[in-house]
Amino acid sequence: MSLARKVDAALETSVVGSFTRVGYGVRRRVEHWEPPARLDGRVALVTGATSGLGLAYARGLAALGARTHLVARDRARAEAVRASLVEASGSPAVEVWVCDLASPRAVGALARELAAAVPRLDVLIHNAGAIASARAVRDGVETTVAVQLLAPYVLTEALRGALGAASPGRVILVASGGMYAEPFDLARLADLEGPFDGVRAYARVKRAQVVLARAWAHRWPADEVAVVALHPGWADTPGLERSLPRFHRILRPLLRRPDQGADTGLWFAGAPGAATLSGSFLFDRRPRPTERLARTRAADPRGDEERLLGWLAGLAGGLEGA
Ligand SMILES: NC(=O)c1ccc[n+]([C@@H]2O[C@H](COP(=O)([O-])OP(=O)(O)OC[C@H]3O[C@@H](n4cnc5c(N)ncnc54)[C@H](OP(=O)(O)O)[C@@H]3O)[C@@H](O)[C@H]2O)c1
Repeated sequence: MSLARKVDAALETSVVGSFTRVGYGVRRRVEHWEPPARLDGRVALVTGATSGLGLAYARGLAALGARTHLVARDRARAEAVRASLVEASGSPAVEVWVCDLASPRAVGALARELAAAVPRLDVLIHNAGAIASARAVRDGVETTVAVQLLAPYVLTEALRGALGAASPGRVILVASGGMYAEPFDLARLADLEGPFDGVRAYARVKRAQVVLARAWAHRWPADEVAVVALHPGWADTPGLERSLPRFHRILRPLLRRPDQGADTGLWFAGAPGAATLSGSFLFDRRPRPTERLARTRAADPRGDEERLLGWLAGLAGGLEGA
């Protein structure tokens, strides 16, 4: 085993060392990471581009030369981000799409507009997400599910042709190491009545994102569309501070900067050989195990993938023409 692999493995076992900026800094040096590849002439879209990691992805994509589409729910903030990217990158090729991803109907409308307007899409980053403090339901779908699972499903399916035109189009689901705590559980994802715990609901959705990446990777040839889920590490963002204030306060000196959290996604966006990674759960530029606890192991992983796709297709079908 190389020294770099030994260092990586040692970090992996110490969750804090791995997920904080310590892990980022050590791996970057020991593994001699190159900067992410240029994306000139490519087209990228990122959701949740107004804050934290999404803003870092947007900045990175534009700086690497990609024509960049931003999806955000607040037009004024998105336009301010657009203006700052245009100024920093010198490229006018930044477009804004306004959509509240918690509204499945609005997502359906956005998907139709994007499919008509974007004939080729090289990179699609599903970044928008949050931990809900209480259950909210729109169009029959709980918000954590709507923003982080149904919206990625609807947008990706609508843009499947555009992604295929990029050969391979690359889809990134920004999941979380939080998913290690929960098994895949479709009944709980769909439950609108039982007790609600926002952190557990979030972890379940993140687990489901990992299952969704694998499901699409099994369905789609990787040289047409390569799909991964990833963990950005623990990054100092407004969302983290708001949703986990105590965790944020204690770990703040060790948290990654947003651009460090965005590194693996930006690397995958232009990495040669990305197709070989399709279906993986990435962290710090490598595929990682998807299980750390025996109790989260799936009895029938392929069945879970099919059931998840079927459920999401059913929810999406209910939106057609809406
Ligand atoms: N920070 C971490 O340590 C960490 C760790 C693991 C995973 N993640 C994941 O990384 C992603 C980004 O998180 P972050 O920490 O950067 O949080 P953040 O600072 O709160 O940014 C989240 C982004 O998502 C957008 N968003 C949320 N709900 C939306 C909705 N209904 N419609 C449209 N946009 C919506 C937000 O828009 P507004 O600006 O309008 O609120 C914001 O732009 C999330 O998926 C999160 O789960 C983060």
